[in-house]
Amino acid sequence: MYKTLEPLHALPPEGSRPVTTADGELLGHLMYHSYLGTIDYDGETLDQAIQEMSETLTGKYGKVNFPASLAVIDGGTAVAAVIFVDHAKLGMPLLAFTMTHPKFQGRGLAQGLITSCLRNLQEQAFAECCLVVTKGNRPAEDIYKKLGFSLTRGTGPGVSP
Ligand SMILES: CC(C)(COP(=O)(O)OP(=O)(O)OC[C@H]1O[C@@H](n2cnc3c(N)ncnc32)[C@H](O)[C@@H]1OP(=O)(O)O)[C@@H](O)C(=O)NCCC(=O)NCCS
Repeated sequence: MYKTLEPLHALPPEGSRPVTTADGELLGHLMYHSYLGTIDYDGETLDQAIQEMSETLTGKYGKVNFPASLAVIDGGTAVAAVIFVDHAKLGMPLLAFTMTHPKFQGRGLAQGLITSCLRNLQEQAFAECCLVVTKGNRPAEDIYKKLGFSLTRGTGPGVSP
């Protein structure tokens, strides 16, 4: 899915801070608990989730856009996070991970974080970004549609037909 970026006024959710290279373990725990039992869960262990996040932060899916990637921290634990990487082939940011801990879901954290990240990307002068979502991941599909992501590139507000 694609989204044309436009100027946005959005305050990040309380407790947000930019993601750093040192967040592998913190985000690994979040990833494990967020994906467990969902359509995208393939039986990964906690250790594998920590490894996946550590590798993601060191460029497994492309260079991480750290200033535009945010995590919400509560009592030393990551409860939600959004990670954007550079999609070298498309030349635009790719939303690689959106995760909210089950205990914190349904409070608007993912929507708030993604909106703030989109504002950061727009401020970095990106015109567009993209993501990949598993068909049938309703919570994610609903958020992305609500935020204006579309299956067609170059559509949406601010773009002439
Ligand atoms: C997808 C995910 C990040 C949503 O996190 P969240 O913080 O609960 O989302 P929000 O509270 O910001 O929800 C915003 C909107 O998403 C939709 N939504 C959220 N949870 C939903 C659910 N269980 N079913 C259907 N729609 C849902 C709703 O449209 C909601 O809008 P509303 O508040 O007006 O009802 C979370 O469910 C998650 O971590 N899932 C596992 C990881 C994953 O699949 N990530 C996406 C990979 S592409």
